[in-house]
Amino acid sequence: MADFHKIRNTEKTFVPGKTPIRYAGRVFDEKEIQAAVEASLDFWLTEGRFTEEFQHKLAEMVGVGHALLVNSGSSSNLLALTALTSPLLGDRLLMPSDEVITVAAGFPTTLNPIVLNGLVPVFVDVDIPTYNIKADQIEEAIGPKTKALFIAHTLGNPFNLDEVIKIVSKHNLFLIEDNCDALGSTYHGKNTGAFGHLATCSFYPAHHITTGEGGAVLTSDEKLARILRSLKDWGRDCYCGPGENNTCRRRFSGRYGTLPYGYDHKYVYSHIGYNLKMTDIQAAIGLEQLKKLDRFCQARRDNFEAWISVFKEYEDYFILPEATEGSYPAWFAFPVTIEKTAGFARTELTNYLNQNMIETRNLFGGNLLRQPAYLNINHRKIGDLTNTDRIMNDTFFLGTFPGIGKEQIEYTASIIDKFVRSR
Ligand SMILES: Cc1ncc(COP(=O)(O)O)c(C=O)c1O
Repeated sequence: MADFHKIRNTEKTFVPGKTPIRYAGRVFDEKEIQAAVEASLDFWLTEGRFTEEFQHKLAEMVGVGHALLVNSGSSSNLLALTALTSPLLGDRLLMPSDEVITVAAGFPTTLNPIVLNGLVPVFVDVDIPTYNIKADQIEEAIGPKTKALFIAHTLGNPFNLDEVIKIVSKHNLFLIEDNCDALGSTYHGKNTGAFGHLATCSFYPAHHITTGEGGAVLTSDEKLARILRSLKDWGRDCYCGPGENNTCRRRFSGRYGTLPYGYDHKYVYSHIGYNLKMTDIQAAIGLEQLKKLDRFCQARRDNFEAWISVFKEYEDYFILPEATEGSYPAWFAFPVTIEKTAGFARTELTNYLNQNMIETRNLFGGNLLRQPAYLNINHRKIGDLTNTDRIMNDTFFLGTFPGIGKEQIEYTASIIDKFVRSR
């Protein structure tokens, strides 16, 4: 297997202008392939021993009580928000038309679960150059129906958790951290993902570790963990793992709803749920990736610093990103905003970079409220989201992932220099 990996992935020399410089991608070695084969030989396929171990190690790494693996970051967002609508939460549950505070400068599937659950998103603008929610505007967004905040640590940069936690406690709100782009980031030394009532991860190949498709929901709250498990597994009340029976010891002696006494607990449904489970083959890959997380995060931080050195030369043209005070981000990417006086447009530059084989991305949906899918959604917003529009028009990002390094960054610097001089 190791030989196979070596032959398939013999060090390819970087040819400037010919070899694409990706913004993200899978980084792996023979260990992940071996793990995938081992799990395939088990042929358990659904959740199994690798899932158990990955969940345990991931929870331990972040510093939370529970990690539940799912089939994508988007599924983890759906599960986390839907968990807050569970009747098991008593009078704290979110009901249709309740409000959830979020931002419009982000990824659509942070917003979608709010809309899909019949809740009302309330949009707050974001700061540039942290690209995170304007913490000083959150209080203004709170109304009698506000029940939760659901916000991302944008591109790995933690939002102002001190301020957010203060507001959450003061108003008795739920906090969900969309940690999909921030695994390994810390705030005052504590991992993001361990602050909210719930947090989410994505293991899509662009992210800090990958299982192909995949994600996880994190929580330290026992009740929320039970709700999540149910919602993830068809809505069932039973919590036996695959292949297990009668863990509750009342499989045939319980009373539920108006079902007859002793109705098989395996087929009792206490939530309107989904099946969002990960497979054991993916979990086996994830376990190997998790062992590399520290190294991956260091490479992301080093690349971020290298980009800063490049762009510092051109501060008249670009606004450079800044880590939130007190944070130590494992940067998902390197965001840049074009200065108003630069004399060129974002798209002119990104087009030029792409012509020179350098991949860029916009900050996801820009202003989601301007996307076709959301033109008619029920929502509130605070102010006119000026920075959100600015990001939609003027911001892009470059990669920080461990698949690039000095050579790629130096070549990109030469292309940026050429572009700026030609203006
Ligand atoms: C902030 C954020 N949340 C959620 C997601 C969705 O994750 P997935 O692609 O695994 O569904 C992404 C995707 O990249 C993301 O960037």
